[in-house]
Amino acid sequence: MLDAKSLPFHTNANKDFIRSEVDFAQIDLWYRKAGRRLKYLGLPAWEMLDIIAWEKFLDRFTTIEREEDQQHLMFLRANVKDVEHRLHALYGEFDQILLDGRDRYERVPDWPYDLVNLDYFGGFLYSDLSRPRALRKLIANQANFQQGFLLIITQHLRDGDRIGEKSQFIEDIRRALKGSTPDQRLCQAIDNLFDWYASPDTPDSFRQALYMNMFFRDVGETEHFDVACSPAILYSGTGNAQMIHFLTGFTYRPGMGHRAVSTQSSLELIDLGLREVRNGALVQVRTSPPRLTPLRH
Ligand SMILES: C[S@@+](CC[C@H](N)C(=O)[O-])C[C@H]1O[C@@H](n2cnc3c(N)ncnc32)[C@H](O)[C@@H]1O
Repeated sequence: MLDAKSLPFHTNANKDFIRSEVDFAQIDLWYRKAGRRLKYLGLPAWEMLDIIAWEKFLDRFTTIEREEDQQHLMFLRANVKDVEHRLHALYGEFDQILLDGRDRYERVPDWPYDLVNLDYFGGFLYSDLSRPRALRKLIANQANFQQGFLLIITQHLRDGDRIGEKSQFIEDIRRALKGSTPDQRLCQAIDNLFDWYASPDTPDSFRQALYMNMFFRDVGETEHFDVACSPAILYSGTGNAQMIHFLTGFTYRPGMGHRAVSTQSSLELIDLGLREVRNGALVQVRTSPPRLTPLRH
């Protein structure tokens, strides 16, 4: 469907750093907030390096895998690591499982989850928009259980945005922000910023980072979550493919009929920008968008 056969996953220093430092710290916070072990849904691959790195925070885990050989190896690995009794394995494309609510063998996810780690091959935007639809379904499912969760998404930077979804989004968000403020100075700053985003010289990673974080916020707030986004992280993954990583907290706001309004403002979200991991460490990004928030003070 989305992407042809991909290179088998191999971890590297960048991925290890993100998993064991960046994600680990956030999961630790989420674990303390929950006051109990977290139920995991994710794509751990046969080595289950994420599950093993975060094991002390985890309760049961549901794994999704579409490659049969990886699935078999995963069972062996779970057995060796003595975590087999906590493993609930689903088989197939994760988008399809989320959309249909069942895997190729009619097994169903064990909703709701506290930690969702979708670390997939391919990008986000393809003409059938199945990925955005699958993520909306995931967020709506969590909301049905009134269950907050930490969502970690890793994807290839290159996607199949032939429909021009991101350029349309840049113009829509520019219009929405300008329409919501009478402040001429802020309107000018918004124009400067979105001209920067629309420019062909701006690396697509910045558009992808903003698009994804606004997507999480928009869908989450509709489902009554207070959404806290983090700066996206760019890194080189398997086969030197450019990957982009997102960490987002969804805190459920019970008892409200109206859409949630997140504690993090939309201007704060826009100013999150991008970080980069190279050679297993965070580095300064070479370019960054003009900021909006200082203008408010
Ligand atoms: C990048 S690896 C996971 C790495 C792991 N999370 C870690 O931290 O080391 C992704 C795994 O998910 C599988 N996968 C990728 N895209 C998928 C999809 N769309 N549906 C189901 N499985 C997928 C791959 O076969 C691979 O085993």
